[in-house]
Amino acid sequence: MLVHIGKIIHKKMIGRYAIPAFNTSNLEITEGVIRAAEAQKAPIILQTSVGALEYAGIEELVGLNKIAARNASVPIALHQDHCKDVELLKKLIGLGYSSVMIDVSGLPYEDNVKITREVVKYAHKAGVWVQAEIGRLLGNEDWQNVKSGEDLMTDPDEAAKFVAETGIDTLAVAVGTWHGIPVNPHTKKIMHTLKEHIDLPRLRAIATKVKIPLVVHGASGVPDVQLREAIKENVVVFNIDTDLRVAFNAALRKNIKNHPEIYDPRKLFAPATEALQKVAEEKLEILGTKGKA
Ligand code: G3H
Ligand code: 13P
Ligand code: ZN
Repeated sequence: MLVHIGKIIHKKMIGRYAIPAFNTSNLEITEGVIRAAEAQKAPIILQTSVGALEYAGIEELVGLNKIAARNASVPIALHQDHCKDVELLKKLIGLGYSSVMIDVSGLPYEDNVKITREVVKYAHKAGVWVQAEIGRLLGNEDWQNVKSGEDLMTDPDEAAKFVAETGIDTLAVAVGTWHGIPVNPHTKKIMHTLKEHIDLPRLRAIATKVKIPLVVHGASGVPDVQLREAIKENVVVFNIDTDLRVAFNAALRKNIKNHPEIYDPRKLFAPATEALQKVAEEKLEILGTKGKA
């Protein structure tokens, strides 16, 4: 069932388990993560990036997700991931999202506060939650400067001030994880040598000062034990996209290679969707979400 995010993120869960926010941009991913949630009797957040909305079309993708969520046997909330465009967020609120992320964390602090407050004012009138970010995660273009990531991490005092000045509902923190897979921009090769790691002392310092639920982005590739430790420090949502993509792509590539006779895309996609579902189910076990629907 389609639910408000406030129904699946609540005080009782803090410190005990967390909800994965799975990114989706097409039918296969939406179906795969919802099947995983149903199999594990778990609530999930279904989220779209701006890129996903551009790829599939806003009304098309939102419509698909909304209907799939409504028809599901477990609670599912719709959330917009990283977005700088205030007008787009307003449109998504109108289309039924119960949570949106305004991400202008790349701007100077004062501008981040000003724009975030504007979104909070609008969203709260509609009963919608707002997530914003303080600090910045590394992404695909940053791998060569990966050491500079330290400077971009969330400062606990600044985070507490930001929450007080904006009135946001959930805070995304930068604690050492990153988006996507590190690829060397020159050789185009995956840099296997980089291992993701949550800075738990920093997270603990943030959790002591910030009294709203925390969100960790870039949660793909983080060791299970660290995810569980982070839950104890008030993290209630982990954003997961890359691990799903990797599983989907590997199964799809294998199927195409092994079955050159298949010409029906549905048959090409089927094992890929299953592989993605399996990874989503594993995440629901790791985060303790299994059985919480
Ligand atoms: O935050 C990043 C998510 O993985 C979405 O990625 O912009 O490629 O859809 P995307
Ligand atoms: P990953 O790339 O680690 O899956 O992170 C996804 C994310 O944070 C989306 O906002
Ligand atoms: Zn993110």
